[in-house]
Amino acid sequence: MRSLTWPAIAGASLLGVLVACGGVDSPVPPLPASPELARQGQVLAEGLGACGHCHSMTGEPGAPLTGGRQMEDQYGEILAPNITLARSGIGTWSEGDFIRVFRAYVKPNGSIVSPAFHSGAQWMSDADLGALMTYVRSLPPVESEVPARDISWLDRYTVGFFDSKPEVKGLIPQLPQSFRQEYGEYLVNHVARCSSCHSKPEGIIVSSRYMAGGEEISFDGETRVAPNITHDAESGLGEWTEEDYRAFFASGKTRDGRQVDPRFCPVRFYGRAPAQDVEAMISFLRTIPAD
Ligand code: HEC
Ligand code: HEC
Repeated sequence: MRSLTWPAIAGASLLGVLVACGGVDSPVPPLPASPELARQGQVLAEGLGACGHCHSMTGEPGAPLTGGRQMEDQYGEILAPNITLARSGIGTWSEGDFIRVFRAYVKPNGSIVSPAFHSGAQWMSDADLGALMTYVRSLPPVESEVPARDISWLDRYTVGFFDSKPEVKGLIPQLPQSFRQEYGEYLVNHVARCSSCHSKPEGIIVSSRYMAGGEEISFDGETRVAPNITHDAESGLGEWTEEDYRAFFASGKTRDGRQVDPRFCPVRFYGRAPAQDVEAMISFLRTIPAD
C-alpha cells in the first residue's frame, strides 16, 4: 500500500522547489534515489498510471518502456516515445524536464507534448509524480530509436493553439486516503485518467460529457470506441454493483461477462492496483451521473 513516507515527503517538497523554479538549470540537487520511493512509483507505473500500456511494445505491465506503440490524436498518428534513460530515450533530460512534460506539456526543446494521452496528469500530486519519476529513472536504459513526430507549423499554430495548456505551478499535496471518495476521484481523474479515453475531448463547439464515451481510441492500427461508463442505467454502468466493479478491476470482465480488450483499456494494469485504491475509485465511479 502506498502511504506517505519520509522520502515521499522530502521528494514532494524538493519537487515543489523544482516546479517553482521551473528552470532546466535549476540549482536544486537531484532527488536522492530512494528505493522506497522507486517502489511506490513502480506500483503507480504498473498499476493505475499504466505507463507501459502505451510506452512499451507489448502494452503489458513490466515490459521495458522503450516506446513504439502506435496511437492517434488530433494531429494524426504518433509512436509513443522511449522513456528509458537511453540516448534514444530521455537520457539527457533533467528531473525538471520530466516534471514539466506533465505539468506544462512541453519538452526540453520547447515543443508541445500532445495533451491527449496524459490529460489529467498535470494535477497529479507532487508525491505521486516524484515517485513515478524516481521509478522511471531507476530503470536500465534501453536503446530503441523511435521516430519523433513532426507537427507541421500550420497545425502547431492552429490545433496547437487550442491544445496549449497553462503550466500547473506550485505544490500539489497528496489527499489523505481517509477521504475515500475524494481520493478515488483523484485517482480516477489524475492518476488513471479514465476520462482521457472515456470522454470526448472538449472542443470550441462541443462540450464533453464526462465519461459518456464515444471517442475513437486507436492502437497499432486498430480502433475501438470507448464506451459510456457513467451511472446511466441504459448505455452506462448504472446496473453495476460494487462487486461488478471489483471484478472489472481484477480481471477486466464486464457485468455481463465480456472480456474488455486489454490492448485498448489498460485492465491488465488495473489488476495490479492496491485493493484500497480500487475501493476508493469504486466509491467515486458509482457517483458519476448519467448526464
Ligand atoms: C495513453 C497512452 C500513454 C500513457 C498511458 C502514458 N503516456 Fe507518456 N506519452 C504518450 C505519448 C503518445 C507521448 C508523446 C506525446 C508527444 O510527443 O506529443 C508521451 C510522452 C511522454 C514523455 C515525453 C517523452 C519524449 O521523449 O517526448 C514522458 C516522459 C512520458 N510520456 C512519461 C509517461 C509516464 C511516466 C507514464 C505513466 C504515468 C505515461 N507517460 C503514460 C502516451 C502515453
Ligand atoms: C487508453 C484508453 C483508456 C483508458 C485510459 C481507460 N479506458 Fe476503459 N475502455 C477503453 C476502450 C477503448 C474500451 C472498449 C474496449 C473493448 O471494446 O473491449 C474500454 C472499456 C471499458 C469498460 C467496459 C464497459 C462496457 O460496458 O463494455 C469499462 C467498465 C472501462 N473501460 C472502465 C475504465 C475505467 C474505470 C478506467 C480508468 C480507471 C478506464 N476504463 C480507462 C479505453 C480506455
